[in-house]
Amino acid sequence: MSILGPGWTSFFYLVAAVCFILALKGLSSPRTARRGNAIGAAGALVAVVTVFLSAKLENIPLILGAIAVGSALAVPVARRVHMTQMPQLVALFNGVGGGAAALVAVLELGHSGDPWVRLAVVFTMLVGAVSFAGSAVTVGKLQELISTRPLLFPGMPVVMGAVVLGAVAAGGIVVVTGSAGWAVALLVLGLAAGLLQVLPVGGADVPIVISLLNAFTGLAVAASGIVLGNVLLLVAGTLVGASGTILTKVMAAAMGRGVTGIMFGAFRGGSTAGSTAQSDRPVRSASPEDVAVQLGYAQRVVIVPGYGLAVAQGQHTVAELATALAARGVEVVFAIHPVAGRMPGHMNVLLAEANVPYEALKELEEANPEFPNTDIALVVGANDVVNPAAKSTPGAPIYGMPILEVAQAGQVVFLKRSMRPGFAGIENELLFDPKTTLLFGDAKDSLTRVLGAVKAL
Ligand code: TAP
Repeated sequence: MSILGPGWTSFFYLVAAVCFILALKGLSSPRTARRGNAIGAAGALVAVVTVFLSAKLENIPLILGAIAVGSALAVPVARRVHMTQMPQLVALFNGVGGGAAALVAVLELGHSGDPWVRLAVVFTMLVGAVSFAGSAVTVGKLQELISTRPLLFPGMPVVMGAVVLGAVAAGGIVVVTGSAGWAVALLVLGLAAGLLQVLPVGGADVPIVISLLNAFTGLAVAASGIVLGNVLLLVAGTLVGASGTILTKVMAAAMGRGVTGIMFGAFRGGSTAGSTAQSDRPVRSASPEDVAVQLGYAQRVVIVPGYGLAVAQGQHTVAELATALAARGVEVVFAIHPVAGRMPGHMNVLLAEANVPYEALKELEEANPEFPNTDIALVVGANDVVNPAAKSTPGAPIYGMPILEVAQAGQVVFLKRSMRPGFAGIENELLFDPKTTLLFGDAKDSLTRVLGAVKAL
C-alpha cells in the first residue's frame, strides 16, 4: 500500500532534485563543500524514503537487508580511507552504481514490450557494464593491484572493434526481440568493452578516466529513470552525467591533454607511461639548517605543495613554517597547481584543513608571473607539476601540461625522500639544475626540522 499520493511524491522528488543541485553548487568551493555534501546526502535520504512511502514495493525485507549490507560495507570503508586513496573509493562507488543500474535494467527487460523503453534498457545495460568493468580496472591501477602502465596486447584495437560491433548488434536484437539470452551477451560485451577501454590507459591519466566513467554512470542511471518511469533518477543521473563531463574536461585541460588522446592514445601506439628508472647523476643536497637560513633571510618564498605533502600529512607543519617565516617579515604564498596531488582540489582541501588562509593560495595563472620576483621556491612533495619536461620534451607523458614555473625563481628547494620520479614516472631535470637544492626525507620530518631551525635563527 502506498502512503504518499502522486502529488506528494512529485513534491518530495522536486525537493530531492533541488537538494542535488544545491549540493553541486556547494561542492564547487572548498569553503562550502561540507555543507554541499550534507545537502546532497539529505536529498538522497528524502528520495529513498519517498520511494518507500509511494511505491508498491515487494520484497521489503530483502531491500532493507541489501541496504543494511551496503551500509555496513561502505560506512567503515569511507570512514577509514586515507585522503590519498579517495580517487579509488570514488571509482569503486561509481563502478558499483553503474553495475547496479545495469542489473536493474536487465530485470526490467521482461516487464517492457515498448521498443523505446527497451532502447533505454539496452543503453543502461551497456553503459552501466562499461562503467562497472572500467572502474574496477581504475581501482586496480590506483591501488597498484595491477600495473599502472598501459596494458596492451597485439591486435587489441581489432578485438575492441569486434566487441563494439558485437555490442551494437546484440543491443539491436534486444531492442527488437527483448531476448534475455542476447541481453546477457550484451552485458558480457559491455564488461569486455570496459576492460579493453581502460587497461591501455597509463596511470597518470587514470583519475581523468574515473571522472569520465562517473559521467557514464550518470547517463546509465538517467536512462534507468526512463526504464523505471522515475523522474528523479532521470534528473539525478543527468546531473551526475553533466557534472562528470565538465570535470573530465577541466581535468584534461589542466593536464594539457584531450579526452580522446587519453582514451585512445595507447591504442594509437603513443604510450602514456614514462620510465620509472632512478637516476644516479649528482645533485646538490642540503641540511635542514641550510634550508632554514635560505628561507629565513629571503624576501619572498613560494611554497609548492604536491602529493608527497599529503602522504606525509605535513599540512599543519608547512602552515606553521609559513607563519614562522611571515613573523620574520618574509612574504610567503602557496602556488597551487590544478592537478597537484591525486584529485581535484586536493591541495586546497589539505591546506584548508591546516587553516591556511585562502588569500595565501595562488592559482597557476596568478603564481607563474611572480616566480621571477621570488627568492625561493620551496617544492614540498611535488614533482610532475613543476617538471620542465612538460614544456621541453615532446613525447613525455606530461608534455603540454601547464606547469608551475619554479625554475624562474632565484633558488629552488625540493623536499622529497629520494630521486624517485613523480606519478608520471619521468625524471625531472630541474633536480639537477645548479640553482636547485634537495633536502631528502619525509616531508613532515623535514618541515619539522626546518621549522625548528627557522625559529632558532
Ligand atoms: P608527483 O609528481 O606524484 O610527485 C610527488 C612527489 O612527492 C614525488 O617526487 C615523491 O618523491 C614525493 N613524495 C612522496 N611521498 C613523500 C613523502 N612522504 N615525503 C616527501 N616527499 C614525498 O605529485 P605532484 O607534483 O603533486 O603531481 C601530481 C601528479 O598526479 C601529476 O602527474 C598529475 O597529472 C597526476 N594527476 C593528478 C590529478 C589530480 S586531479 N590532482 C588527476 C590525474 C592525475 P619521493 O618518492 O622521492 O619522496
